[in-house]
Amino acid sequence: MVAASDTVQLPFFRNKIGPRLKPQTRLLFEKYSGIAPEDVEAHLYNIVSVLCERFTPIRDPLPLTSNNTLTYGLKQRDRAWSLQKYPCVGQWVFLLPRMPQLPWYPDMVSRLQRGSSILDIGCCFGQDLRFLAADGVPTGNMYASDIVSTFWDLGFDLFRDKTFFNPHFIEADILDTESRLQELKGKVDIFLANQVFHLFNRERQLTMAKNLVGIGTKDVWIVGWQVGSGHGRSIPVGTTTGVPYVSSDSDTRLFHNHETWKELWQQVGEQTGTEWSVETSMQPLEEWGYEKEDTAWMGTGATGFEYMCRRVG
Ligand SMILES: C[S@@+](CC[C@H](N)C(=O)[O-])C[C@H]1O[C@@H](n2cnc3c(N)ncnc32)[C@H](O)[C@@H]1O
Repeated sequence: MVAASDTVQLPFFRNKIGPRLKPQTRLLFEKYSGIAPEDVEAHLYNIVSVLCERFTPIRDPLPLTSNNTLTYGLKQRDRAWSLQKYPCVGQWVFLLPRMPQLPWYPDMVSRLQRGSSILDIGCCFGQDLRFLAADGVPTGNMYASDIVSTFWDLGFDLFRDKTFFNPHFIEADILDTESRLQELKGKVDIFLANQVFHLFNRERQLTMAKNLVGIGTKDVWIVGWQVGSGHGRSIPVGTTTGVPYVSSDSDTRLFHNHETWKELWQQVGEQTGTEWSVETSMQPLEEWGYEKEDTAWMGTGATGFEYMCRRVG
């Protein structure tokens, strides 16, 4: 079982920021947030230690079942504790400027500047909406959502923008078909889902995708980046597998390649009466800024995977 005190032993917890603070992100902190260049790193260490402090007082071990999967219906407190241990935070992956480097980013910016809306699903700190805001996208048409609001709240401390960054935040579970996200039905032109599908097994990815389709407009785009796999394969979640953390109760996580992603969206189309144009791209994770130690726990074949799904019918 994973106890709070084990956090630092997880394979995706790195003490040092290392090469993950890239110039594009550094610029965001300096120009958008107004933090002096010499203070940026200290500021980041401070925020992440606040995050750890907020969660670590909970000492109970996670309630794992005999086969090392989480039981459904956890208390919110335990769920929040388990959500803390994401590589995106523990490995400083949230600092990688993937968002402005997506091949579809210029199209997104221009669509949003013409008045379209965007919802960042599983937004965590909300760093990707900040890239858009810094590039001149108005925040009035931005929505953000996460299963825990703590990350979002910390985002204001991280970017020091409480007075001028005001997307509408909704705390919700993207797997829940009756959550408050239904308030946005027909109002979302672009969904951003960075590093979220890959948290779940295929069945839950299908549920999530259908949920987004139900909320989005008739010409919605669903775009993001995540960990993929050249083999397109599921990896088990559990302490015995070297992946000792859990995410929203999935027992496995499916890492996609182009074919498995297309198949998923084919099925989404069939089950929702919609049609999709799907583009993907894969790159070595090292090119994105990961170090070897960051990816060892993912097994062989892990890659960077970016996607754009455009609703065309
Ligand atoms: C790996 S992090 C990615 C965060 C951010 N999008 C990024 O790229 O840095 C996954 C995020 O999804 C959220 N999350 C996990 N399960 C969720 C669910 N069922 N519904 C909504 N958000 C969820 C987590 O709280 C976390 O902020």
